[in-house]
Amino acid sequence: MKNLFFVLLCFLAGCKMAKNDFNHNDVVCQLDYSKSKVIDSLDKMDVNEGFPRTVKKGESAWATTGVGGWTSGFYPGLLWYLYEYSGDTVLLEKAQCYTARLEPIRKLAWNTHDLGFMMYCGVGNGFRVTGKPEYKEWLLQTADSLALLFNPKVGTTLSWPWMKKRKGWPHNTIIDNMLNLELLFWASKNGGNPDYYDMAVSHAQTTLKNHFRPDNSSYHLVVYDDKTGQVLQKITDQGFADESVWSRGQAWAIYGFAMCYRETGLTEFRDAAIGMADYFLTHLPDDYVPYWDFKLPDVNGEERDASAAAIAASGLIDLVKHLEDPKLKSKYLCAAGEILASLSSDGYISHNTMAILDHSVGSKPHDSEIDVPIIYADYYYVEALTRMLQLERQSD
Ligand code: GLY
Repeated sequence: MKNLFFVLLCFLAGCKMAKNDFNHNDVVCQLDYSKSKVIDSLDKMDVNEGFPRTVKKGESAWATTGVGGWTSGFYPGLLWYLYEYSGDTVLLEKAQCYTARLEPIRKLAWNTHDLGFMMYCGVGNGFRVTGKPEYKEWLLQTADSLALLFNPKVGTTLSWPWMKKRKGWPHNTIIDNMLNLELLFWASKNGGNPDYYDMAVSHAQTTLKNHFRPDNSSYHLVVYDDKTGQVLQKITDQGFADESVWSRGQAWAIYGFAMCYRETGLTEFRDAAIGMADYFLTHLPDDYVPYWDFKLPDVNGEERDASAAAIAASGLIDLVKHLEDPKLKSKYLCAAGEILASLSSDGYISHNTMAILDHSVGSKPHDSEIDVPIIYADYYYVEALTRMLQLERQSD
């Protein structure tokens, strides 16, 4: 019966079921596999050594990052999702240990938009699962720090304050920043400043106006005049070129606008997410996992980015949950299933490391973390599987 749910939806959408009929059993199988893999590696790691971030080429163990790294919240968040799925108390204990290490984020002025990733993915999931009052306190304090980066003249939060001097970018906003809005939305309805809702909406609307080309592809970075709000530059930092389309940036856009539609019900965000999803899906190679940039002059020898695929899949499932049109629901659920099927295949599962997925790219232009496992690929992959399961329960 459960399998029928996926099969029927995909049939409605007319998608290529013969290729990948990713179904209920596959979702459960992959969540079980992910849980075992993570539990197996827990004993080999020391929480005092920091937060898993990447596995270097030729190695099997996670290399770690400190609490100030933008990826610190993903591993605790992954543990929360897998605990929630399995009820395994080993995962609960470790989730609590790693989450406790995120506490300093609330006290220090980190001065980066990444506060949302760092706090909401780890502590946000911890609060959702346990309701612990101290987690709520940390989240609210961190939202207050993040809100300090909002510039009302521009209408967005500043992403990289240090780039003001280093590059002469007075106010800069990257597409990734859309994800950090979730912490502001959450705070506005959980005892924080209610104005954070308006800030988040303003950020999303300004981004929608300035960050996209007519074909719905995303620029990575927009530089603004901090006094007038005027757009000064539209460029890239992690993509192939200013006028190319960095795959993970496009995935952040789908996820971010789907989340904004969920939080506000504003149809402009729904339509934006749909446009961005259509760009992403129509530019994928046959196996549904993008190269690290959608506009490479020649893909021969270029790397895929599994993290972009996982982020997009999770965002698509969020979108499906809140869409009303059954044909669109089917279309995007089917697409998410195709992506997850591919990520779950031998080509992308990491067999010889502690990570769940292989083949992500951190930043090719910086020659950093190329074609390796990266923690946020695992986090969004497990989140997507979890969302798939929740969607199915809703439809029972
Ligand atoms: N937010 C940083 C990245 O996606 O690499």
